[in-house]
Amino acid sequence: MTDAWAAVDAAAARLRAVHLRDLFAGDPGRFGRLSWQLDDLTIDFSKEKLDAAAIESLVALARAAGVEALRDRMVAGEPVNLTERRAVLHMALRGGADAPAGDDVAGTLDRFLGFAEAVRAGKVAGSGGPFTDVVNIGIGGSDLGPVMAARALSPDRDGPRLHFVSNVDGAHFADTVAALDPARTLVIVSSKTFTTLETMANARLARDWLGRHAAAQMAAVSTNIAGCAAFGIPQARVFSFWDWVGGRYSLWSAIGLSLAIGIGAEGFRALLAGAQAMDRHFREAPLERNLPVLLALVGIWRRNAMGWPTVALIPYDQRLERFPAYVQQLDMESNGKRVRRDGTPVATATGPVIWGEPGTNAQHSFFQLLHQGTDIVPVDFIAAARPRAADAGHHALLLANCLAQGQALAFGRTAAEVEAEMRADGKPEDEIARLAPHRTFPGDRPSTTILFRELDPFALGRLIALFEHKVFVQGAVWGVNSYDQWGVELGKALAGPLIAALRDGTPAEADASTRGLLARVRELGR
Ligand code: F6P
Repeated sequence: MTDAWAAVDAAAARLRAVHLRDLFAGDPGRFGRLSWQLDDLTIDFSKEKLDAAAIESLVALARAAGVEALRDRMVAGEPVNLTERRAVLHMALRGGADAPAGDDVAGTLDRFLGFAEAVRAGKVAGSGGPFTDVVNIGIGGSDLGPVMAARALSPDRDGPRLHFVSNVDGAHFADTVAALDPARTLVIVSSKTFTTLETMANARLARDWLGRHAAAQMAAVSTNIAGCAAFGIPQARVFSFWDWVGGRYSLWSAIGLSLAIGIGAEGFRALLAGAQAMDRHFREAPLERNLPVLLALVGIWRRNAMGWPTVALIPYDQRLERFPAYVQQLDMESNGKRVRRDGTPVATATGPVIWGEPGTNAQHSFFQLLHQGTDIVPVDFIAAARPRAADAGHHALLLANCLAQGQALAFGRTAAEVEAEMRADGKPEDEIARLAPHRTFPGDRPSTTILFRELDPFALGRLIALFEHKVFVQGAVWGVNSYDQWGVELGKALAGPLIAALRDGTPAEADASTRGLLARVRELGR
């Protein structure tokens, strides 16, 4: 173990047994010391089980791991995605870095935003009139970004209705188009490779569903221009991007076309500007005050120093309901790795399991376990200080609940407090003795709160870029390549022979369990 890791571990050994109640009692200035701002964005780490000295040890770890040098190499367009020999330049899509010479990012952006505006204005229309509906067909990074952002920015949407089809379950397409008019629906096939099984199967379904409208009412977003042409999408409706944009980092490219049709060119540019503001901060702020760096390091503290394997991501914002799913791909596909950049096994745990649902709904489902279960699950709360188009009274209810959950997790409720309260309520002693253990909250459960003014396009862009850079920093410290995803390949390869086995009974070479299940499917599916 390196000295830097040893210093982090020593800090953890010092703090592990210190209750958050005592950390707060011992330092009245804790919030000021452990929360950081970038304009209206605040991140409060004071409810994490750490202190300023622990943060110092984590920053030293980031320095020792060469985070700054790797960041600068990424920004300079070096092929930091080593296994695929590619640059990682999604920041260039929003002016946060320079694109490779010859790749016309600004012109490409103008072109797809121009198309988006023409669709919104009805200048590009279907055979039955201006488009009333847009269906984006894509999966993973070609779906989750637009679907998440379209939901998050619903108050900014005034264009045609947006729909998203991702799953190869035919029900997804069928249910989505059931009420749509094919003469007034634009279908956008979004796929970096234009070979993804799910997307191509759904694209074919869409082409059949559009029938005679297909040629005029399909568009594509891809790096595989020849594939789009072979599928029959006219060149004028194909919007390209570049192999230096990873799928899960591609919302900023023409993959955001459906979103741009929803929120307009101005809204889309504001989203990019928000991300660019975070890029600038990430590139310029010293590690000690760098928000994505600190968010990453607190994650490393949780995962490696404290040994907690999952993170609950809980937006107190119904419009961010798809944000946990978006971050799941961003984080788990990037840092769910077991070998280092040089192919040797990692020495520490890497990416945690990320999961979550919006609050307050989550309070009424799994928060019981977070408060009184036997595992510690750190929570990331996300909230906007003011509502957009919602009732202001409701917003106070929402935020009060968010803050209360952080309090309850950190401070809990001791047995003595429970007993005193029950006594004050006049409860008999035998009932107090019987119920107090059940009503006690241990507390000492960590959370981070990410707070900003309002969920508009700028704030959303900045929030996404915050998480992108967090993922980068964690990957750099763990020494993994955050920009490949070989882990999804094996399942794809194994599905091939099974498709044939299910379709026409071709015998599949498979293990006894899979053969047994295939036989059972054939029997039940007859
Ligand atoms: O799940 C693997 C993956 O390659 C993701 O990284 C990607 O976002 C998704 O599939 C879709 O790929 P494509 O855009 O090429 O269809």
